[in-house]
Amino acid sequence: MTALRLGIAGLGTVGGGLIKLLQPDQPLGQGEFEIVGVSAQNRARRRDVDISRYPWFDDPCDLAMQPNVDVFVELIGGSDGTAKKAVELALRRGAHVVTANKALLAVHGADLAKLSESHGGKLLFEAAVAGGVPIVKALKESLRGARPRAIAGILNGTCNYLLTEMEATGRAFNDVLADAQRLGYAEADPTMDVGGFDAAHKITLLAAIAFSALPDYEHVKIEGVDLVTLDDIRLAGKLGYRIKLIAKAERVDDAVSLHVSPALVTLDHPLASVGGALNAVMVDADPVGRLTFIGKGAGAGPTAAAVAADLVDLLEGRGGPAFARPVSALAAAARAAPSEFGRFYLRLRVQDRPGVIAAVSDRLGREGVSIESFLQTPGHDGPSVPIVLTTQPVARSALDAAAKAIETLDAVVEPPRFFPIEEADDRARLWS
Ligand SMILES: NC(=O)c1ccc[n+]([C@@H]2O[C@H](COP(=O)([O-])OP(=O)(O)OC[C@H]3O[C@@H](n4cnc5c(N)ncnc54)[C@H](OP(=O)(O)O)[C@@H]3O)[C@@H](O)[C@H]2O)c1
Repeated sequence: MTALRLGIAGLGTVGGGLIKLLQPDQPLGQGEFEIVGVSAQNRARRRDVDISRYPWFDDPCDLAMQPNVDVFVELIGGSDGTAKKAVELALRRGAHVVTANKALLAVHGADLAKLSESHGGKLLFEAAVAGGVPIVKALKESLRGARPRAIAGILNGTCNYLLTEMEATGRAFNDVLADAQRLGYAEADPTMDVGGFDAAHKITLLAAIAFSALPDYEHVKIEGVDLVTLDDIRLAGKLGYRIKLIAKAERVDDAVSLHVSPALVTLDHPLASVGGALNAVMVDADPVGRLTFIGKGAGAGPTAAAVAADLVDLLEGRGGPAFARPVSALAAAARAAPSEFGRFYLRLRVQDRPGVIAAVSDRLGREGVSIESFLQTPGHDGPSVPIVLTTQPVARSALDAAAKAIETLDAVVEPPRFFPIEEADDRARLWS
């Protein structure tokens, strides 16, 4: 078998991990792959791996254009800029591209997949979603005969770590985040993670594959873990739930609904026990039923192993269209999805005085929102108190309207927040 010749752009966490996996003492270092060029930003940077024996390219675009590069491996990151330019150049000349870059694919995936189809190179991205968890291939190959109904995932390890720590230690979001940054578990600029954007990139890709739909990042409704307070975690716990950042894609009639938001999960939910920095993806498909994949969603080894799996596919002549079907067979995605219908958790902070609860109930009632349970814990410091409600199944749009009306009440001291409740068995969930 002739060796597959690789040009590796990006030599950071994942790129460095990949080079380690391709060394002669590793299963993938037995001559099937040859590194014919590497590129990064700073040639002089000290790295864990010795790159001195590989041809160096200052510009990843030059590397992408080398005629001896069979596979351009993009491990730079970012939805635009150099990574995008270099991937386009490689695809335009018919080279294969393997990437871990979910931001790039979520935003430009359809165009890049079209380029790959028209020029003959494959575009593979197992590592882009949930790192070492082989969910992309599972959806593209193993579940090809099934009809996915919903995918729900914990797709951002940083957020899951933060929520797990808050619950375990009783420390506030900002404290836990500052520690995570010191320990290197969270980026110096954590916006992509804590704002829910990274999870949104990933669910966009999974939904495209599972529902044969064009990747549609624009239409993901995104709320991050920065909205979750210690009160939420404590009070949700008293009600029998745990809070997770859930990225969810559901087929609703002919449309796809895409959400990322903190959600309350019942303790018997398959995602409830996924703690720390782990990732998990639950797929509900007919006629297979529910499957849950759990594992390391990041880190040099697991992510590089996922990149390597794509390289092996290319070596052995596998790897179909980027999103399992040709772009021309992918439908428009999220646009027409109706408003979500289900139970919700609503948190308010109000002045502790008579009549407030009646006023809140009135505003909910006017929008047709029925209260299922109500919780106000005795003993609090300061002039305001947190109260939480869970609702009977209701359309998200009705709760939105009620929350806006509640916010205008004098006694309400901060905007109400509401999060969906994920049922252990959500087959009963309805749509309006
Ligand atoms: N880290 C993970 O666990 C993980 C998991 C799943 C997916 N991913 C994805 O994998 C990709 C790489 O992530 P990473 O964590 O390995 O990032 P990283 O450690 O920050 O490494 C990025 C690499 O890209 C190089 N680079 C940046 N800008 C460049 C430019 N303009 N031209 C050439 N090289 C440039 C950097 O060069 P220097 O080294 O010279 O600075 C560095 O080697 C991203 O798309 C990320 O989302 C990462």
